[in-house]
Order: sequence, then structure tokens, then C-alpha cells
Amino acid sequence: MHSFNSERMLNMLRGRRLVFVGDSIGRNQWESMLCLLATAVKNKTSIREVNGEPITKHKGFLIFKFESYNCTVEYYRSPFLVPQGSPPRNSPKDVLCSLKVDKMDWTSKRWLGADVIVFNTGHWWSDGKIFKGNCFFEVGNKVNKSMGLREGFAKSMQTWRKWVAANIDPSKTRVFFRTYAPAHFIGGTWKTGGTCDNETEPYEERTKFEREFWTNGPLLKQVEALSGKVHLLDITKLSSFRKDAHSSIYYVESNQPRPFRRQDCSHWCLPGLPDTWNHLLYATLISAPFSSPQPL
Ligand SMILES: *[C@@H]1O[C@H](CO)[C@@H](O)[C@H](O)[C@H]1NC(C)=O
Ligand SMILES: *[C@@H]1O[C@H](CO)[C@@H](O)[C@H](O)[C@H]1NC(C)=O
Ligand SMILES: *[C@@H]1O[C@H](CO)[C@@H](O)[C@H](O)[C@H]1NC(C)=O
Ligand SMILES: *[C@@H]1O[C@H](CO)[C@@H](O)[C@H](O)[C@H]1NC(C)=O
Repeated sequence: MHSFNSERMLNMLRGRRLVFVGDSIGRNQWESMLCLLATAVKNKTSIREVNGEPITKHKGFLIFKFESYNCTVEYYRSPFLVPQGSPPRNSPKDVLCSLKVDKMDWTSKRWLGADVIVFNTGHWWSDGKIFKGNCFFEVGNKVNKSMGLREGFAKSMQTWRKWVAANIDPSKTRVFFRTYAPAHFIGGTWKTGGTCDNETEPYEERTKFEREFWTNGPLLKQVEALSGKVHLLDITKLSSFRKDAHSSIYYVESNQPRPFRRQDCSHWCLPGLPDTWNHLLYATLISAPFSSPQPL
């Protein structure tokens, strides 16, 4: 495997757009990429968010420009990839919101023209994040209350596949889909006191962790249907070993640990594991370079 070279990556991205689309774990990977690339730039003030926005989780999108390379590294928040919003007017009263599984996220217009797009989704596909908030799936402008989580996800992945097939020219845009990034709440869930701050070593054996995550199956099916148009960035298994690599008690903006708070065993410390995902992304990109260099 080619080892990561920030300068070479920036030269490859000259005049180009590298776009990450997905949930906050996707933002985690985007932040890792910014840090990795920044190591090759002496003048750090020449790296800027184009609208002067700070990195927070509340922004719909963030675009960092590396001035001397005229390239941007962008993040679009889209935890489901399909839009979430008000239900249609004729819906039952108890339906407070809907996920429009036959439409692509409204921000998808902004992804167009990217040279590299890295998608992800997964962590928000849970009863807690959808049905508990009285959110249901919507198809053809009608809410379907009997559509379950897995059906809703499978339908959304079909919608994503059709969007890629209709909107992406593979000679111009490299498309990646990063597989599920496992969480490691030990002794409970995120809500019931699961922890990972005491984990200082990775798992040594594969038998110790869950082997598959249900979102990977329907994802793989759609990626395969695109026959070579999309590269699967398959990081689930390698990340499953890393119960030691999460933010745990250190996720708050302070260098003091907060032992009395809920722990974060979903996101990852940086530098850390998402750097490895980006090393794999780099190795794939560099092994089949863009056919024509962009002028500066
Ligand atoms: C910078 O890159 C963009 C593409 O992202 C391109 O449209 C533009 O022409 C480039 N600017 C220069 C000065 O090369
Ligand atoms: C660094 O970049 C900023 C922004 O482009 C520029 O204003 C400044 O002059 C640069 N500093 C050096 C030492 O080149
Ligand atoms: C609602 O979804 C269920 C499960 O996918 C499906 O069997 C049913 O036909 C759908 N109903 C309508 C009206 O489309
Ligand atoms: C934390 O790790 C230490 C050393 O491995 C162990 O003795 C202790 O029981 C662990 N505590 C918890 C809460 O898991």
C-alpha cells in the first residue's frame, strides 16, 4: 500500500474538490483529512473555511480551502442521505416528521461537480433516532407508517444508487462509500452508562466483537449494482478492533476529562483511527490517478 503523503495528496487535489457527505462520523473523517493535509502547508492561515465558520456540529456544511493548491475539502451534514422534514399535509396527527426515502437530500445539488465524494450513513438508522421522535418514512408524498427501519434504509440506499447513476460521471468524479464505523459502549448503551474510557488496548481476537452491522448488507447490494462506479471504503472490521480509540470522556471542549457525563464511544480521537480510513482512501486514489492534472 502507498503510505500517506500529504504533499502528494494536495498536488493530486490541485484545483479540485474533495467532498465528505454523511453523519458526524463522516465529519470526524473530514476533520482527520484536514489535519493530515495541513501538515504539508507551512502557512496555516492560508487554510480557511470559505465563509469564516468555525468547526461545529451545527453547521449544514463547511468548506475548507487550501489556498496555495486552490482545492477545497468539504463536509455536508446529511445523516440519512435522504431528506428529513415536515410530513405531507394529509398525514396522521401523530406523525411529526418524515424521512423522504425516495428523494436525495436537498444539499445534494451542492455535491455535484466534486472530484471525489466520500459518502457514509448508518448511525442515525435506529428506532431511537427515527420512530421515537414520531418520525416515519414517506414514499411518493405519502407517509407509510408500516414501513420498518430496514425497509426504509434499503429504499434510501436504492434512492442513493439511482442518484449516483444519474448524476455522477465516473470519468470526472471518484465516488467512495465508507462502511459502518462501529461504536464500543461497554457495559451498556450510550444512554445507560456504557463506557470506553477504561479501554487502553484494541481487541486481540475477532471473536470478541460483533462481526457485521446490518446497514452494510443493503449498502453493499447497491454498491455492487453500480458495478465499479463506487469504491467501497470497507473499514468496519479493522475499526471493530479499536475499542481503545474513541473520544470517551474527552469529547468536551476542554482538556479536563468529564467523568460524570455520558461517554462518547462512537466518535474517535484525532490523531487516530479515522486517519487510517483516509490512508486507505489515499492509497486507492493514488493507485489510479486522475487522467488530467488540473491547472492551478
Ligand atoms: C480553482 O479551482 C476551481 C475548481 O474547484 C476552478 O473552477 C478554478 O478555475 C480554479 N482557479 C484557479 C485560479 O485556477
Ligand atoms: C499566509 O497566508 C495569508 C492568507 O493568504 C496571507 O495573507 C499571508 O501573507 C501569508 N503569509 C506568508 C508568510 O506567506
Ligand atoms: C408500506 O410499506 C410496507 C412495508 O414496506 C409495504 O408492504 C406496503 O405496501 C406499503 N404501503 C403502501 C400503501 O405503499
Ligand atoms: C478498568 O481497568 C482496570 C485495569 O484493567 C480494571 O482493574 C478495572 O476493573 C476496570 N474498570 C472498569 C470500570 O471496567
